[in-house]
Amino acid sequence: MRFQLATALTIASATLSVASPTFEAVSNWGKSNAGQKRPDHTSSRPNVKCHPHKPHVPPPSPAARHKVCYAKSHGDGKTDDTPYIMKALHDCNNGGHVVFREGVQYFIGTAMDLTFLNHIDLDIQGMWLFSNDTDYWQANSFPFVFQNVTSFFKLGGNDVNIYGGGTIDGNGQAWYDLYAKDIYTLRPVLFGVDGLKNSILSDLVLRYSPQYYHFVANSSNVIFDNINIAGGSNSANPAKNTDGWDTYRSTDITIQNSYIVNGDDCVAFKPNSTNILIQNLVCKGSHGISVGSLGQYVGQFDIVENVHVYNISMTDASDGARIKVWPNTASALSGDLQGGGGSGRVNNITYDTMYINNVDYAIEVDQCYGQKNLTLCLEYPSPLTITDIVFKNFIGKTSTKYQPQIGTFACSSSTVCNGIVASDINVVSPGGKNEAYCLNVDASTLDVVCTDVFKGFN
Ligand SMILES: *[C@@H]1O[C@H](CO)[C@@H](O)[C@H](O)[C@H]1NC(C)=O
Ligand SMILES: *[C@@H]1O[C@H](CO)[C@@H](O)[C@H](O)[C@H]1NC(C)=O
Ligand SMILES: *[C@@H]1O[C@H](CO)[C@@H](O)[C@H](O)[C@H]1NC(C)=O
Ligand SMILES: *[C@@H]1O[C@H](CO)[C@@H](O)[C@H](O)[C@H]1NC(C)=O
Ligand SMILES: *[C@@H]1O[C@H](CO)[C@@H](O)[C@H](O)[C@H]1NC(C)=O
Ligand SMILES: *[C@@H]1O[C@H](CO)[C@@H](O)[C@H](O)[C@H]1NC(C)=O
Ligand SMILES: *[C@@H]1O[C@H](CO)[C@@H](O)[C@H](O)[C@H]1NC(C)=O
Repeated sequence: MRFQLATALTIASATLSVASPTFEAVSNWGKSNAGQKRPDHTSSRPNVKCHPHKPHVPPPSPAARHKVCYAKSHGDGKTDDTPYIMKALHDCNNGGHVVFREGVQYFIGTAMDLTFLNHIDLDIQGMWLFSNDTDYWQANSFPFVFQNVTSFFKLGGNDVNIYGGGTIDGNGQAWYDLYAKDIYTLRPVLFGVDGLKNSILSDLVLRYSPQYYHFVANSSNVIFDNINIAGGSNSANPAKNTDGWDTYRSTDITIQNSYIVNGDDCVAFKPNSTNILIQNLVCKGSHGISVGSLGQYVGQFDIVENVHVYNISMTDASDGARIKVWPNTASALSGDLQGGGGSGRVNNITYDTMYINNVDYAIEVDQCYGQKNLTLCLEYPSPLTITDIVFKNFIGKTSTKYQPQIGTFACSSSTVCNGIVASDINVVSPGGKNEAYCLNVDASTLDVVCTDVFKGFN
């Protein structure tokens, strides 16, 4: 059963200038699936098209499957269903279609290595619910090599299609509360992807991730379409670092037609993300669509290149389009997020068409990430180059936070940033001005009123 995201997206964009749909309005999606039972059935595989922009390589075109396996569940919300899930996936690997039944909850209490998948469809109609045994997961979730990232399960392989309209729920509350007590808690990513190729993930509802919703590493030719992300804390402890997607060591990744309510980057391109297409997203409450952070680790060379971001609605966010690079000196954003001193390049990035509504900075280029002391940052300029960057067709209004500034273009030296263009920036601050802090950039190609008044970084 496909849920009607298209309708919700239309509503979201139509009401941009007025109230946007609340989290409550979308939080029941997927629950309708869990509430009612229908006879066993398979979902037909969605016909995902990349539109209006096309990825750099042809999208995957999976063959039909020839076998159906139904995953069993204890259905009591506490007995681990992982053995049933693994059995169904093995039984139907290499050409089958695995159904996670509509109205059924699959309770997952064991870390699953799903990198063996090959020519398979996962039809998630019901719900995957992860246990909140924080001790177990911290000892057993899969480590990724970047920023202490770990995940509940690790998805990889070739020609894997996941769809079905069901829900994947990270049961995050226990994690939000634990992280508030100890920032070194290793909170798993909901959807860990390592080495996935030629695959399409679509029509899924993701809720209450302990940390990022997706971490996509070592992957190529993967499309995410029609993904609905939300889930906050119901205690005083916020759900932190709930990035929608982070890409890492990956190429030819498309993320499109999705709705994201979260509390950190809507999408972030981490080191070695190339040929990335992002289009038609509604992001609420986020930190924007971000390149970076990059240059975090001494001795590493980070590349983010050939990225096209098109048609994004950005509401109640710290940033719209953002590039964040650590300076060339040890810096700390917080105890668990430190870095600086790395090199690399950000090249050929286009942000085209962004609707800005109550966003602190519509555009933020920041080469002093993690370093509050600007003088110190400029003493140790980053060697990481930022070239051929286009921001165009931005429209809307920022928040009051930095007014009259609507953006910042701050490079740590005059030699590293070249070819930064901002055109048709029809964004104003609440007072009607469109100023921006400009440092070590060519102001003549920026369609904003440059000033040297520094108001701060996000
Ligand atoms: C990606 O692949 C590299 C090289 O095979 C491997 O060392 C690394 O563990 C993989 N996973 C991640 C998250 O980088
Ligand atoms: C990883 O966690 C350790 C402690 O567990 C911490 O010292 C370190 O700063 C963390 N690294 C990053 C990059 O978050
Ligand atoms: C832990 O998960 C169970 C369901 O698996 C739930 O009943 C309980 O409320 C959760 N605890 C917290 C602190 O969220
Ligand atoms: C990124 O690619 C560059 C160039 O191939 C390489 O030197 C660097 O180690 C890669 N970084 C990561 C994190 O894989
Ligand atoms: C832009 O994205 C919205 C969803 O936010 C979608 O409804 C609209 O059709 C998209 N526009 C184009 C030209 O694709
Ligand atoms: C820049 O990136 C786009 C994809 O976003 C790609 O189509 C184009 O060929 C790239 N340009 C160059 C000069 O590589
Ligand atoms: C900022 O860094 C400069 C240069 O290292 C130093 O002189 C100054 O005291 C620092 N300011 C603060 C507030 O730490």
